[in-house]
Amino acid sequence: MTKKRYDPVPLIRAAITASAGAKALYSRFQVGAALLCADGSVVTGFNIESSSYGLTICAERVAMFRALSEGKESFTAIAIVAGSRNWCPPCGACRQVLWEWAGEIEVILARSEEEYQILSLSELLPHAFDHGYLPNA
Ligand code: THU
Repeated sequence: MTKKRYDPVPLIRAAITASAGAKALYSRFQVGAALLCADGSVVTGFNIESSSYGLTICAERVAMFRALSEGKESFTAIAIVAGSRNWCPPCGACRQVLWEWAGEIEVILARSEEEYQILSLSELLPHAFDHGYLPNA
């Protein structure tokens, strides 16, 4: 499917809305992510923390796993915001998962609808490991 140009602002708005629902009981650091699928739909996620801290899952992976479970297969961009208005570059684990399932998408890091920067995923995760390195893939 051809990837169309898109307006980052509605995607940022969706991520801001999603961040308000974050289950960040321990860190109080609420994150929202909005994933733009190639079919034009948007799937959001927020971080969900656990009292067993290591079981916490980031907003980006929630968005990606929701999208995959809904049958989405191709992606254009993801917007990521922290409710605190801090920048929230995706953690290493999320970069890897995004790379494996979305490949070279645009990553919109936003503090508001007006203040954002767009990076490519390969800028954030150069020389990524993926299935291409597995002999039996
Ligand atoms: N978090 C995310 O949701 N995304 C990131 O890319 C970085 C961190 C969450 C995990 C945890 O719930 C909180 O932010 C503090 O680390």
